[in-house]
Amino acid sequence: MDEITNPFTPGAGSPPPALVGRDNIIYEANTLIDRTLAGRSAQSILLTGLRGVGKTVLLNKVRHMAIDKQHISIIQLEIEENKTFAELLVPELLKTLYELNMLTGAGVAVKRGLMALRNFIKGIKVNVANISIDLAPLQGVADSGDLNRDLCDLMLTVAAAAKAQQRILLLLIDEMQLMAKDELNALILTMHKAQQIIAPIALVGAGLPTLPMNTGKAKSYAERLFLYPDIGKLNMQEAQDAISEPAERAGASFTKEALETIFNETQGYPYFLQTWAYNIWNTSPHPKITLDDVMRAKPRIQAGLDSSFFRVRYDRLTPREKIFMHAMALCDSQECTLSEVAKQMQSNSSSISRIREQLVRKGMLFSPRHGCIRYTVPLFKEFLLRVQNRS
Ligand SMILES: Nc1ncnc2c1ncn2[C@@H]1O[C@H](COP(=O)(O)OP(=O)(O)OP(=O)(O)O)[C@@H](O)[C@H]1O
Ligand SMILES: [Mg+2]
Repeated sequence: MDEITNPFTPGAGSPPPALVGRDNIIYEANTLIDRTLAGRSAQSILLTGLRGVGKTVLLNKVRHMAIDKQHISIIQLEIEENKTFAELLVPELLKTLYELNMLTGAGVAVKRGLMALRNFIKGIKVNVANISIDLAPLQGVADSGDLNRDLCDLMLTVAAAAKAQQRILLLLIDEMQLMAKDELNALILTMHKAQQIIAPIALVGAGLPTLPMNTGKAKSYAERLFLYPDIGKLNMQEAQDAISEPAERAGASFTKEALETIFNETQGYPYFLQTWAYNIWNTSPHPKITLDDVMRAKPRIQAGLDSSFFRVRYDRLTPREKIFMHAMALCDSQECTLSEVAKQMQSNSSSISRIREQLVRKGMLFSPRHGCIRYTVPLFKEFLLRVQNRS
């Protein structure tokens, strides 16, 4: 069928044609924003889940909700491996302060925000080009050179500037598992302080399932500061709705058997659902899509996923890491203990624990429970078994 009218959206952060199964999370985010707007304290939200479950999609959804509500200054960041949190934050805060400055009645509070930002850049030695703030220094605010103190000072000063304009700050941070420990520490401390003095800052973050453990390690009170909704795979009904609703709106339909097979193949993981539906649509000769159409498309879809989605991640591994990941694939369940992996590698737990750490740092593994490890990429085990069978 016509590729141009294909409603499905395999991608990274691409809004799905039907955002199903996420009503609770949208409700929680809405509550957080509305309570913050009402000047009440609220628990911020850290969305966690495997690769491709829809975390970025949800952050963008929250962004749009916030735009509709008005009176919200949005600061949206995606943490990157080769940049510090401060380097990413500073230009966004500057933009926010300039925007606040354009509102009528902006004055001292915005100026204080700009001065604090200037101090922060100097104190922490933030590597940002082309930013010069030509104001006299504001002594004692964000100028200690200590990230914890200065981030807190800076954010609270910018929040005060927003408050002076009857606005709140909404921080949307993606890929938070990449934040360094001291950065996470400083951010949690800032949110803790903000909650105590009811400063108008709300945070919705997203990251891999390592995030709750990392925040808990950074600050033990983090579990009371944040809600950690688990963004998981969709159940059978949700997965079917995710496909059949957009198809029907576009004048096509999938039979029950077709939908059941797609669910079994994808296990309800959103990225795979979009990929399967997109490709089946393109290869199907007619708008009533049947099991035959699904089965005909299957080899190409799987080969496509193997050579792109899975392969890109596999190719980032060192030879030792590959051996480790293959050994994990031989465990009976989705979760493995380090000793099971060591046994498969004919080694012992202590000699392979460094490889495990590297893989966690690369975002390939996480620990769902003490002593257990799991892939962060859904269906990676099945991919590795296919690779093993081929060689
Ligand atoms: N609730 C949903 N229903 C249907 N499809 C969805 C849903 N959420 C996300 N998707 C689709 O899943 C894909 C992945 O979404 P997204 O990029 O937001 O995942 P992610 O969790 O941020 O992944 P990563 O961890 O790799 O960044 C997109 O193609 C998106 O359209
Ligand atoms: Mg994402």
